[in-house]
Amino acid sequence: MSAWDGPSYDAVAMPQTAWGEEIVRRLVSELGGGRHASAAAVLDAGCGSGRVTATLLDGLPDATVVAGDPAESMRQQARVRLAPYGERVRVVDLDLEDDAMLGVNGGRPFDAVLSTGAFHWVRDHRAMYRRLAAVLRPGGALVAQCGGAGSVAEVREILDHLGVEWAHLNHYPSPDETAGWLRAAGFRDAWVWLTPEPVELGGREAAVEYLLAGVLAPYLAARRAAEQREIAEAVADRLAEPRIDFVRLNVLARRT
Ligand SMILES: C[S@@+](CC[C@H](N)C(=O)[O-])C[C@H]1O[C@@H](n2cnc3c(N)ncnc32)[C@H](O)[C@@H]1O
Repeated sequence: MSAWDGPSYDAVAMPQTAWGEEIVRRLVSELGGGRHASAAAVLDAGCGSGRVTATLLDGLPDATVVAGDPAESMRQQARVRLAPYGERVRVVDLDLEDDAMLGVNGGRPFDAVLSTGAFHWVRDHRAMYRRLAAVLRPGGALVAQCGGAGSVAEVREILDHLGVEWAHLNHYPSPDETAGWLRAAGFRDAWVWLTPEPVELGGREAAVEYLLAGVLAPYLAARRAAEQREIAEAVADRLAEPRIDFVRLNVLARRT
């Protein structure tokens, strides 16, 4: 199994989709409404299975969107979901950790970048924000949300007890360090803040499926399916409450 399985993630990503809808509303408002906003060129960085991308396309009916993700299975799922939008959207291989992303739109700058649930899977945020600034036009908007400081702390503590490594894959940043990276990358008017977003898991089986397809997927990718399920069950059983305490880091900024 690759780190992310598109169909499995798509089936459980209800919380992520609901959070994403709010981020899309912020982006539409940042673009200021009207015809100009509607016709914007937008990058969805780390688009996953495309659920939030579809909301973005609905919210900006004349916009063109490049939806990028490094996971082939996610891209395949996104292509299926986004097919009704035709030429308004292009699904591409995009890695926020690789300078190759600078050529993502054939060198043409974007009016805005949206990203939901992806940045905490990137380790070098300083370099990532530099790349994002480089693909935006001057004055272009960055509107994003990802896991922030303290997010899924209980799950990570349980993984430590179980001997499952996670730290090499994630960075859950604080608002202060993020604001510093944004300034260093050439963003201005940066707002960065945390919001607690606990998710109730709705029973043990639902919890196991959610953990397997979402939170734990990249940590368990190299293991056999049976072992992945055992670990997800062990995590679900050890949670003090049937709940995951997500903390989201929100980013609103303009390229200088
Ligand atoms: C939790 S999913 C979020 C997907 C979607 N944006 C959403 O809100 O439903 C995280 C996504 O981040 C992507 N991702 C992980 N590392 C990335 C990187 N270096 N560059 C871009 N995307 C990355 C994963 O492939 C995955 O699709």
